[in-house]
Amino acid sequence: MAAPLTAEQLPFSALLRESTRDVHERAHHSAFMSTLFDGGLTLDGYARLVTQYYFIYQAIEEAADAQRDHPVAAPFVVDELRRVPALEADLAFFLGEDWADRIEPVPATEDYVRRIRTVAFDWPGGYVAHHYTRYLGDLAGGQAVRALLKHTYGVEGPGALFYAFDIGNVPAFRKRYRACLDDAPWDEAERRRIVTETLTAFECNIAVFADLAGELDAFRA
Ligand code: HEM
Repeated sequence: MAAPLTAEQLPFSALLRESTRDVHERAHHSAFMSTLFDGGLTLDGYARLVTQYYFIYQAIEEAADAQRDHPVAAPFVVDELRRVPALEADLAFFLGEDWADRIEPVPATEDYVRRIRTVAFDWPGGYVAHHYTRYLGDLAGGQAVRALLKHTYGVEGPGALFYAFDIGNVPAFRKRYRACLDDAPWDEAERRRIVTETLTAFECNIAVFADLAGELDAFRA
């Protein structure tokens, strides 16, 4: 029988996925997400999550603009993925036209945005760590939230535009994305550094969910 692959021999996309399995599980089962999936959250509570995404994606997409001309980061600058316009429309749907005056980040979102600004504007690997964590998640598990919004809350179109990607066939896109990860010219040390930053990105998301869980009593359906 062939020996199992070591971390060094795994394609980078597989290493990232394996390395984040446990933290993904924790993010998935956070109290806020569990309440959302149980249909236990009001739409105002869901809008608090959309609000946090707005601040987070603004930072990631500004980083994309900063990285656009870097040869290593450029394959991961995909304008069709941009979420800020969808988030603006979703916030207008939930909060009204004056939504911009009515949104506040929780402290963990401020920390998350600070982290993105620290590592994702000048370091392609840091950009990819944060890009992968959010967009590949939105293209996979995020689609479960889209179905939930439709079936539990009757929200589709405006309010759920965040989950509507204009990128064609999603499995094919994810496959191409993995190929970009595998083809990037990173040595072992850089790969390890990117894995570590990706774990930090997941922890940032878990911290945002924890802050939002502190508000749950105000938003129980
Ligand atoms: C809301 C609850 C969640 C559910 C139901 C969920 C579910 C899933 C599923 C089904 C996949 C596809 C796995 C596969 O292709 O085999 C996936 C992948 C992924 N999820 Fe989640 N997820 C959730 C939360 C999150 C969160 C909070 C994050 C990070 C912010 C995240 C990040 C990712 C990433 C990066 C991938 C891609 C893994 C890879 O293929 O490399 N997920 N998720």
